[in-house]
Amino acid sequence: MSDKPLILTDPNTDRSVELPVIRGSEGEPTIDIKAVPSKLGYFTYDPGYAATASCTSSITFIDGNRGILRYRGFPIEQLAEKSTFPEVAYLLLHGELPSRSQYDEFLDDITYHTMVPEKLNTFISGFHYDAHPMAMMAGVVGSLAAFYHDRLDMSDPAQRMLAAKRMIAKMPTIAAACYRHHMGWPTAYPPNALNYTERFLHMMFSVPAEVYEVNPVAARAFDLLFILHADHEQNASTSTVRLVGSTGANPYACVAAGISALWGPAHGGANEAVLNMLEAIGDVSQVPTYIDRAKDKDDPFRLMGFGHRVYKNYDPRASIIRTAAHEVLAELGARDPLMDLAMELERIALEDDYFVDKRLYPNVDFYSGIIYKAMGIPKSMFTVMFAIARTVGWVSQWLEQADHPTRIGRPRQVYSGPAERDYIDIGQR
Ligand code: SDX
Repeated sequence: MSDKPLILTDPNTDRSVELPVIRGSEGEPTIDIKAVPSKLGYFTYDPGYAATASCTSSITFIDGNRGILRYRGFPIEQLAEKSTFPEVAYLLLHGELPSRSQYDEFLDDITYHTMVPEKLNTFISGFHYDAHPMAMMAGVVGSLAAFYHDRLDMSDPAQRMLAAKRMIAKMPTIAAACYRHHMGWPTAYPPNALNYTERFLHMMFSVPAEVYEVNPVAARAFDLLFILHADHEQNASTSTVRLVGSTGANPYACVAAGISALWGPAHGGANEAVLNMLEAIGDVSQVPTYIDRAKDKDDPFRLMGFGHRVYKNYDPRASIIRTAAHEVLAELGARDPLMDLAMELERIALEDDYFVDKRLYPNVDFYSGIIYKAMGIPKSMFTVMFAIARTVGWVSQWLEQADHPTRIGRPRQVYSGPAERDYIDIGQR
């Protein structure tokens, strides 16, 4: 049974408009407000889009109150336990888990697009050695359009899918090249005999003079982290990709915009900010001081890795990553006092009324840096790890929008500037 439309009446004019109710496949009710400007002469106001559904999508479902995250209907907990990142990439791109032959073909598609044009390495060498890798990634990924200009007919579904697969394949290669430039190491080329995460680790850490053995613990941990970070509905960076895509811009430009949005510390940059915060706190004895700062409206300090626009319960990814952090540290025979500090910080915060009342829980970024650090990834590369994984979500969402073209995204505003006034010559000012 479909819902009755809502009736919105303007008491100033007695004009009314019927607003249809749309229900998603999980029954979430949404009001279609498209008719409000033409029927009632009003815009709607929703800064930060907290109350706004920008599109329909069949890729990822989140229930913030119940702490649910599903990719194409599959619970993240099952995918984390049983799947692989390339298989999740196929699922997000195509909507179904692949058969064995489909999976093998997909792996080949990705494997044989891992190389980047050699001139791209020249581009990367032009950065100063201490350039932040996210700044490099945004520039380098955007420049891919300059190398693939012959295959940018975005009206061709085959070229759209090729561009999507190229980015999934090349992001690890570009990320590793940015890291190696920073370290002053020679370029490492993708060893196609290895799987996706093994190949990435080899490109990151191998040195020409030695045979590099991939640590299976690290490879599996990266596979898990990439699965958990692959997509997350209409978050800030994915919404950026969609908005840029709605103009007809090429997918490399869209993903480059997504990388820039992800870099912000309120978004994907939080994983690097969490480690900086833990290092600044330094010792469990300082936790109460920082908790008080986080609660102080006059202090800009936020508890990084805590809170979420959608999750008002525990982020299901944070639970999985916290368990994985313990396992990785144990398997690597490593101890990290920051892990103990993070857990104590979480314990104290979740006993504090401020965080309980505002329903602020650890999010995906709170524990991930502990694992990256244990595997030798420098802090400046943490958000790059997030970008590698989220490229799958970005290109899947971009494809979904491109396959079902929408109007160009163009929000309005509430104007707060001066009323009309005449120009004044500089001599009279
Ligand atoms: C990601 O959207 C996604 O799906 C993102 C993501 C993904 O996979 O794509 O999940 C990845 O970006 C995770 C979030 C990583 N960011 C951080 O950990 C940074 C710290 N968190 C906050 O900046 C904040 O919680 C946000 C940005 C995550 C959410 O911001 P909202 O939804 O706009 O919430 P808000 O800022 O309006 O906070 C509501 C209240 C405020 O207090 P009041 O004005 O109501 O008094 O909670 C407070 C905030 O001051 N608050 C915090 C806090 N987060 C929110 N207070 C202290 N520490 C915090 N971390």
